Amino acid sequence: MRALTWHGKRDVRVDTVPDPTIERPDDVIVRVTTTGLCGSDLHLYEVLGPFLDSGDILGHEPMGVVEEVGPAVTELSVGDRVVVPFNVSCNACAMCTQGLQSQCETTQVHEHGTGASLFGYTKLYGQVPGGQAELLRVPFGNTLPIRVPEGPPDDRFVYLSDVLPTAWQGVAYADVPAGGTLAVLGLGPIGDMASRIALHRGIRVIGVDLVGERLDRARANGVEVVDALDVDDKLGDAIREMTGGRGPDAVIDAVGMEAHGSPIAKAAHQAVGLLPDAVAKPFMQKAGVDRLAALLSAVDVVRRGGTISISGVYGGAADPLPLLQMFDKQLQVRMGQANVWRWVPEILPLLAEGDAFGVESFATHRVPLSQAPEAYAMFQKKADGAVKVLFSP
Ligand SMILES: NC(=O)c1ccc[n+]([C@@H]2O[C@H](COP(=O)([O-])OP(=O)(O)OC[C@H]3O[C@@H](n4cnc5c(N)ncnc54)[C@H](O)[C@@H]3O)[C@@H](O)[C@H]2O)c1
Ligand SMILES: [Zn+2]
Ligand SMILES: [Zn+2]
Repeated sequence: MRALTWHGKRDVRVDTVPDPTIERPDDVIVRVTTTGLCGSDLHLYEVLGPFLDSGDILGHEPMGVVEEVGPAVTELSVGDRVVVPFNVSCNACAMCTQGLQSQCETTQVHEHGTGASLFGYTKLYGQVPGGQAELLRVPFGNTLPIRVPEGPPDDRFVYLSDVLPTAWQGVAYADVPAGGTLAVLGLGPIGDMASRIALHRGIRVIGVDLVGERLDRARANGVEVVDALDVDDKLGDAIREMTGGRGPDAVIDAVGMEAHGSPIAKAAHQAVGLLPDAVAKPFMQKAGVDRLAALLSAVDVVRRGGTISISGVYGGAADPLPLLQMFDKQLQVRMGQANVWRWVPEILPLLAEGDAFGVESFATHRVPLSQAPEAYAMFQKKADGAVKVLFSP
């Protein structure tokens, strides 16, 4: 089959690789019909190289049709339409059964001390072959795939794999009180979708980014937008001015470690991307290569006693956080990979009924998988108005 594989920093290719096969009795093989490109893939493209091997298949936002089932699969049949969550979760362990699928005890990666395995997401998360491919082996075939109805186009359901539950969890963790205000930092797919979900719940949303097309898109949906480039290091003041001097009740950080605004860390990041693995790995985990610009903004922006909900992915361990300010402001901070199945029962009925969040026009680009390398470069540069890219294998 054809699949998008990683070969080095900013070097991904579409290669011919062996087809996946049923390895365990409850595996299923899915023929992928649509598969997304995520901001998280950009971390692999740029800084997480030390945790990948040449030839690893990327991608964690697939949907498609069941092509083959193992002998122990009773809940799915060949031909069923399914979305595959990005967490590889068993839905039976002590973590999964309390809605913490991103911490699944059956698939945790003990070698690295990390949570649940993820499709297409480095050795830190189990080095599981990903979904930017024609075919995908999916374990836990009875409980992991999400069955979706026939009829609407793939665009209606594909975001159940990641974008919708991640944004949903971001808004849930933000826990904005009735009549309250939410600031969303970063208006990529995650921040944009979190804004839509919050607006849908009647929350006032202030969105921040520095890419014109992304600000325009959010504004068109009813978000009050602030261009980070206009306010520079006065973002907190600008947002306090919009919120009676106090600041919003909660802030979602939908940026993560690829933030703009920290030239020194950027140099460290680039250096790590170019170091030999043996040196770069401990450096990434222990030394300071974090880019905390967005998180530091969130601490400043949020009102006293407010909540910061972090969806953006961070790594590293050495960057100091402003604990005096965080303690003094009495902040609550909640974060983590999305627990996809935790939110599916709430989201799926809204999708089956209609297009509450505008998902059918959410993708800005749909391209054949063969053009994925160009699409990665475009998405990283935020060129050509790219916000969300879907591939057709
Ligand atoms: N928690 C999860 O389960 C989960 C799931 C999916 C994605 N993510 C993470 O969420 C983050 C966003 O993903 P995405 O797909 O929307 O990616 P993205 O890279 O397209 O979006 C990030 C946005 O932040 C903007 N930005 C950069 N620096 C900023 C700053 N200082 N202030 C305000 N905005 C700034 C960028 O212009 C961009 O529009 C990534 O870190 C991704 O890894 C987490
Ligand atoms: Zn994703
Ligand atoms: Zn589990």
